[in-house]
Amino acid sequence: MAIENAHLTTLQGAYDVELMEVTLRVRRYAGEGSRPETRSYTVEVATTATLLDALDVVKDKLDGTLAYRKSCRMAVCGSCGMRMDGGAVLACKTAMKPFVDAGHVVTVSPMGNLPVIKDLVVDMAPFWQKVHAVKPFLDTGGVDDPETEWRVTPRQSALIAKESLCIMCGCCVSECNSMDSDPDFLGPAALAKAYRFVGDVRDGDARERLKELSGAHGIWDCTRCYFCNQRCPKGVDPRDAIAKLGGEAFREGIARDEGAKHAKVFVQSTYKGGYLRETELVPKTIGPIAAIQQLPFAFQLARAGKVPNPLAPHKAKDNAEVKRLWKLLEAQAPKHRERATRAPEGA
Ligand code: SF4
Ligand code: SF4
Ligand code: FES
Repeated sequence: MAIENAHLTTLQGAYDVELMEVTLRVRRYAGEGSRPETRSYTVEVATTATLLDALDVVKDKLDGTLAYRKSCRMAVCGSCGMRMDGGAVLACKTAMKPFVDAGHVVTVSPMGNLPVIKDLVVDMAPFWQKVHAVKPFLDTGGVDDPETEWRVTPRQSALIAKESLCIMCGCCVSECNSMDSDPDFLGPAALAKAYRFVGDVRDGDARERLKELSGAHGIWDCTRCYFCNQRCPKGVDPRDAIAKLGGEAFREGIARDEGAKHAKVFVQSTYKGGYLRETELVPKTIGPIAAIQQLPFAFQLARAGKVPNPLAPHKAKDNAEVKRLWKLLEAQAPKHRERATRAPEGA
């Protein structure tokens, strides 16, 4: 159905704007007690239109009841996160032309892992609760002298460059596997924010932060699915931030969580033999007593041929090479967390 669009027709006349017809399948939901349904809308938009532009035309011309969030229209405010074809995107950063050219009708739905209020609008309260839980502000540890200033080198500043780009849009949270099974998991956005301060050389509270983050629902509950890195529209790479938090926790000797022990066995067994020694993984992660309780399950696995021979673990052909790499990495890793220096203002 061709839709009359007076605004675009005027633009076309004045500036020779090229138009295209785009169809969107939009998940509609009127709120508690109503049944979600999908409706199709076809509108005419400029060939440069984003998903947000198309939704604006739908709302303006076809259905004023359609609800979604937006503000800056330039991938800065983080308001317009929603799912397109099942994956979170920023609507204002997603061009429609490639889909129109491919003859593909996109389906637009609200972000995942957050309660839906209406149509494409989700309740961000659980998202903000988690961000607030990681103390999202600098704590200099009592250093407060107006006569001096922090000196942060470009290299030190680069440590948190990616995490500082976060616009709190929630796209990563929408696709987080771990949050899907454990809604209390802190999640990629809050953990990337946490690293933003743990990695800040001016912060004096990193150790306490890391202790908190290493507990239940924290850094070790990430399943490493990498969907957060894939969906983040700003290149924050939250999974990488979580890995950095794990590394910092190890450096501080905070490794009591089973997740931390699990990671440690991986490192140790690749060092010893170049491969993962699966039979050592469970007892060294959960402890010998808990491992004994898992013996019936281990026997089931053994019967299915899924337990390697513990007496003859696999070993890489050139394990010396693995060890050399391992030592090289260890030598390169900083032994202590750096702190920024302070100097008299203007000096
Ligand atoms: S890598 Fe971890 S934090 Fe990122 S989406 Fe997967 S489970 Fe969530
Ligand atoms: S990490 Fe990326 S996807 Fe997640 S909230 Fe920040 S900007 Fe959005
Ligand atoms: S409207 Fe601000 S990020 Fe899309």
